[in-house]
Amino acid sequence: MSVASKSRLVYLSGKMVPEGEAKISIFDSAVMLGDCVTESTRTFAHQPFRLTDHIDRLYRSLKITRIDVGHSRKELTQITRDVLDANMHALNAADDCWIVHNISRGLLKHGPSPAQQNTATVMIFTDHMDLRGWAKYYTDGCHAVTSMSRAVPAQSLDARIKNRSRLAYTMADTEARLVDPDAQCVLLDIHGNIAENKGGNLCVVTDGELRTPTTENSLAGISRQTVLELSGDLGIPVRESRLQMYDLYTADEVFFTSTPYCIMPATRFNGLPVSDGKVGPVTKQLLDAWSKRVGVDIVSQAQRQIDRQ
Ligand SMILES: Cc1ncc(COP(=O)(O)O)c(C=O)c1O
Repeated sequence: MSVASKSRLVYLSGKMVPEGEAKISIFDSAVMLGDCVTESTRTFAHQPFRLTDHIDRLYRSLKITRIDVGHSRKELTQITRDVLDANMHALNAADDCWIVHNISRGLLKHGPSPAQQNTATVMIFTDHMDLRGWAKYYTDGCHAVTSMSRAVPAQSLDARIKNRSRLAYTMADTEARLVDPDAQCVLLDIHGNIAENKGGNLCVVTDGELRTPTTENSLAGISRQTVLELSGDLGIPVRESRLQMYDLYTADEVFFTSTPYCIMPATRFNGLPVSDGKVGPVTKQLLDAWSKRVGVDIVSQAQRQIDRQ
């Protein structure tokens, strides 16, 4: 059962409207320039997870990109909750949903500097959290593959700005899938350090220590932050550091973190097994701890969706 249905209500620049009536101009700067910041939050047991952190990150992205959303944080948080409430009735009790914010600079102006601030286009919607595509990775792990394209350097576009200009990530994903159609891409930065995935951060565990790249070259992921906090609770030492491909080849465990799947184990890296090629104990321990924190068994929720299909 999906929230995506005829009855879904979405928020578009001041109005709650049925999905089919939510239309934006082909001259919107999101369409013309990919000039749009974004957030994706998920629910656990129908409650938004770390919504304040997502809204805070959104406002940091808005500030740096100089997009005026026209709402205070408090107002935008209330609108977000209203969108969620308006659509909860369509959500299966066992499932959860995404809440997505897309905020563009608005309609382009004609003339020499089209991307001047106009009235922002504010788009907020919920979508059913379909976890079926990730379900098998919790038990089997995925194949992490480096792409040919490198991450956009922070000097050009800081990775901490969560934005919808996704061409670089999409190309990296496509390239990794040339090696293995089921691959998850690993982007390196222009210096050859591990950066991130098209929609997730990376962590490695070696000799009991968890390491993740710094935010010099990767988004300050909220799932990454959750893993760092849970590791602290579990007494797992953590370090934010530069990592090279060598560190993934020789790690005991490798995993990705992102809002929908939380933790996605990788059991192969560029064709070689990570350690013994099985999902490792620290990864499992962190998934368990996360499930306990949110009161939802993350792995079972995804697997139940497969069983139901
Ligand atoms: C490029 C990129 N890196 C990392 C992440 C993970 O961030 P979060 O854990 O906040 O979902 C995302 C999420 O969409 C992303 O787009």
